[in-house]
Amino acid sequence: MAAVDQLLGPVAQWYFALSTASQIGLLSAGLLVLAVLVNVANQLLFKNPNEPPVVFHLFPIIGSTITYGMDPPRFFVENRNKFGNVFTFVLLGKKTTVFVGPDGNEFILNAKQKDVNAEEIYGVLTTPVFGKDVVYDCPNSKLMEQKRLIKATLTTEAFRQYVPIIEAECYSYFKKNPDFKPDAGVVDIAKKMAQLTIFTASHCLQGKIVRDQFDESLADLYHDLDMGFTPINFMLPWAPLPQNRRRDQARETVAKIYRDTMAARRRSDEKDAQDIMHHLMYATYKNGQPVPEHEIAHIMIALLMAGQHSSSATSTWIMLRLASRPDIVEELYQEQLRVVGAPDTAFAYEHLARLTLHANVIKETLRQHAPIHSIMRKVKQPMHIPGTKFTVPPSHTLMAAPGVSGNDAEFFPEPSEWDPHRWEPESPLAPRLPIKTGDDEEKVDYGYGLISKGASSPYLPFGAGRHRCIGEQFAYLQLQVITACMVRLFKIRTVDGSTRKVPGTDYSSLFSKALEPAEIYWEKREKAA
Ligand code: HEM
Repeated sequence: MAAVDQLLGPVAQWYFALSTASQIGLLSAGLLVLAVLVNVANQLLFKNPNEPPVVFHLFPIIGSTITYGMDPPRFFVENRNKFGNVFTFVLLGKKTTVFVGPDGNEFILNAKQKDVNAEEIYGVLTTPVFGKDVVYDCPNSKLMEQKRLIKATLTTEAFRQYVPIIEAECYSYFKKNPDFKPDAGVVDIAKKMAQLTIFTASHCLQGKIVRDQFDESLADLYHDLDMGFTPINFMLPWAPLPQNRRRDQARETVAKIYRDTMAARRRSDEKDAQDIMHHLMYATYKNGQPVPEHEIAHIMIALLMAGQHSSSATSTWIMLRLASRPDIVEELYQEQLRVVGAPDTAFAYEHLARLTLHANVIKETLRQHAPIHSIMRKVKQPMHIPGTKFTVPPSHTLMAAPGVSGNDAEFFPEPSEWDPHRWEPESPLAPRLPIKTGDDEEKVDYGYGLISKGASSPYLPFGAGRHRCIGEQFAYLQLQVITACMVRLFKIRTVDGSTRKVPGTDYSSLFSKALEPAEIYWEKREKAA
């Protein structure tokens, strides 16, 4: 004991007199303080002038994960104001370089395949949910072919069939759902829109046999699949957690349901079906190979999930925005009377292009509430950022955030004002940069059909480049018909009657959703006798 006293002094004596638990606790705290000091010193002393500035953070690995995760758009804007359009932050131990604004959108979303890659970022999360050999569990060239095959099925002929399907689903839903039995009431519209989205999407894209199973087992199975999309699974996708076990079981069961459905459909020899499953059953890859059934099943899961979150989050925001602007609800109703006719006239595909205010409600809602706030790519080679001295090294992830420019006063006057009329050319709030549309624009084909070449637009809710959304037209159609049916059946407003106010945003999943309960007050236009 005397030797210890002499060697280590009274501090050591005090330390070794503590219980083992206290000793471990103290040691850990010491190591943490040391790690923080080294991390801070590293940021202050070893700045690399050729790499983008790094957002200051105390803790290694955690970095800015919490501030980013709580409110990504605010995080982007605050750091843009501090550093300019390009900066790096630490996200779950990864150096992540954000490049906002139209130039950033172009730099990241139109980057070459040799420079960036999406599958190494998203694959860990999506493969356990979708299954093997599709989307990010295959070479990019195969994904481009899968997108081409899917896009080829989304024809005008198919869309013509989808409009009455969605209309009938909406009417049946509002008629049967017990929450809509009285003449008026309050509902959590997020829950209702989630159900309506999956019923309408499954019916249109996967056929009636699949749709009918959503009243029974499929809804719960998809819920289990959904639990695979928690941000923690970016780090621990294969962890033996109960929700991951349920996700894996659900994927197997859903894929089997799809395979059995395909077998039954082949036997029944149906003729004029326009859903994607039917088309893929008879499609072939470029090399002449038919699409294997397990791939079709996995594509079905991927498509339904890709559309579900973004479309149901958007329709919820649409309803919340409309509830905060009953004057716009009435304008929409008048537009329907003008374009479609009396309320008992069925909606048709041809009406949609003329229901311009309906389309602008969607466009404006996507401007303020784009469901995908961050788009990531893994950097494969050093990438120089034009006009700067910065080069992004391959150890970094790149992050695009088109929503930042979509809410920037430089491009959209009074950006926090939700006003669907701003999309009319003569509006004082009209976007300041021409949003390119039309045939004169340069186009490119990444393997899934021609799309606009430029990504340097401030408004890109559907992304750009080789990973651009192929569901945009379907999403617009689905959102337009759901909105039109809602407006035709109900008058809506906020629960307390206030205007221009909506709930905050929940960023805890990977999508920007309305905080729940997202309640609105509704009242039937035609009351029960
Ligand atoms: C890709 C948004 C609906 C299928 C994307 C991307 C965005 C997006 C931003 C690009 C992601 C990236 O670059 O990493 C939206 C929004 C929607 C919507 C806002 C609705 C309001 C749909 C629907 C479907 C769909 C309904 C299916 C029918 C896809 C597919 C991709 C994609 C297959 C391509 C993924 C890739 O190539 O990596 N979507 N989407 N989306 N979306 Fe959508």
